Amino acid sequence: MSVTLPPEAAPTSSAPGALLDLEAAREKRSATRSAEAARERTAVLEGLIARNPGEYRVLTGDRPTGALHLGHLMGTVANRVRLQDLGVEVFLIVADYQVITDRDDSGDLPATVREVLLDYLAAGLDPDRSTVFTHSAVPALNQLLLPFLSLVTVAELERNPTVKSEAEAAVLRQRRGISGLLLTYPVHQAADILFCHGNLVPVGVDQLPHLEITRTIARRFNQRYSATRPYFPEPDALIAPSTTVLGSDGRRMSKSRGNALELRASEDDTATFFRRARTDAERTITYEPEQRPEIANLLQIGASFTGTSPEALADEVGAAGAGRLKAVVTEAVVEGLRPLRARRRELASAGPRHLDEVLARGNARANEIADRTLDDVRDLMGMRY
Ligand code: TRP
Repeated sequence: MSVTLPPEAAPTSSAPGALLDLEAAREKRSATRSAEAARERTAVLEGLIARNPGEYRVLTGDRPTGALHLGHLMGTVANRVRLQDLGVEVFLIVADYQVITDRDDSGDLPATVREVLLDYLAAGLDPDRSTVFTHSAVPALNQLLLPFLSLVTVAELERNPTVKSEAEAAVLRQRRGISGLLLTYPVHQAADILFCHGNLVPVGVDQLPHLEITRTIARRFNQRYSATRPYFPEPDALIAPSTTVLGSDGRRMSKSRGNALELRASEDDTATFFRRARTDAERTITYEPEQRPEIANLLQIGASFTGTSPEALADEVGAAGAGRLKAVVTEAVVEGLRPLRARRRELASAGPRHLDEVLARGNARANEIADRTLDDVRDLMGMRY
């Protein structure tokens, strides 16, 4: 038996060897274009959200692989809190099933989940207004994966650039095969977003290909099962204002690279982190993201914590050089994170009871919504017996 997919899902032939470079270049151009388009769309959305926050439901989240770091805060966590405070309903998934996409040992998950929760709450997430939950506690969400998987082709999954680079890392760095869950996790992510009819997803540009798959799945589901009245929304990406935060080695900040400044780090460790941060050989500080990425990164961090622009901060430091820049940034970050860190310590010292309660409440609410959605989906698919 063959599966009939919508015309847009038809397989494309894979490029022969000589064309691979061309193919890669084309992919890069199209990624840049979609990032630009997403940024433009974000500006429009911000206007709409400010006027009508009640029309939006945010779904986003994190893999619980460790405590959150500065890249998380500047990339998306601060943005989530801002949206919550604007009156948008916020759902945060602690994506525990995503941890096992590329590793056998997920560590002490309950402890890691609590660390992530502490970071959320310390950053200003309010559990009375926002919902935090875990994959594994919401069976109906996971069941949506089955119909959703039928709506995409293997070729489409294999083309996803984020999955491709994660798969490459698995094969090259960890010398392991690509798990079925790694290949299909963007579809799982579609279930994360669509189970609660999330229509706004604040993410970094690296997650844009995933959001495209979510939109495709929503569209195909509606076409196939709910043609007269679209059941799922096609969610929009909301790109955070800040660009990628670099770690101590000059590469993108990430837990797995061991180059991150954790939010929970002490003030001393914060100072050490910036003292060791890479700079370049030029003395005078200028803001040139393309030519001087490490300096630009420090300027962006410093600026975002002091409410100025990277350009203004560069002018201020100027000839005083990288040493002065590092001192300014350290001071800004230590001061800026002080309230968050104080609140985090307070919550942590109160013990796990409160955290577990927050999660239990979030899981209960997510289950209620997921059960309703799965019921609707069964009806729409004619699976009511
Ligand atoms: N993949 C995301 C990350 O690694 C986490 C995540 C899981 C997510 N489900 C999601 C993000 C749904 C946005 C929407 O950070």
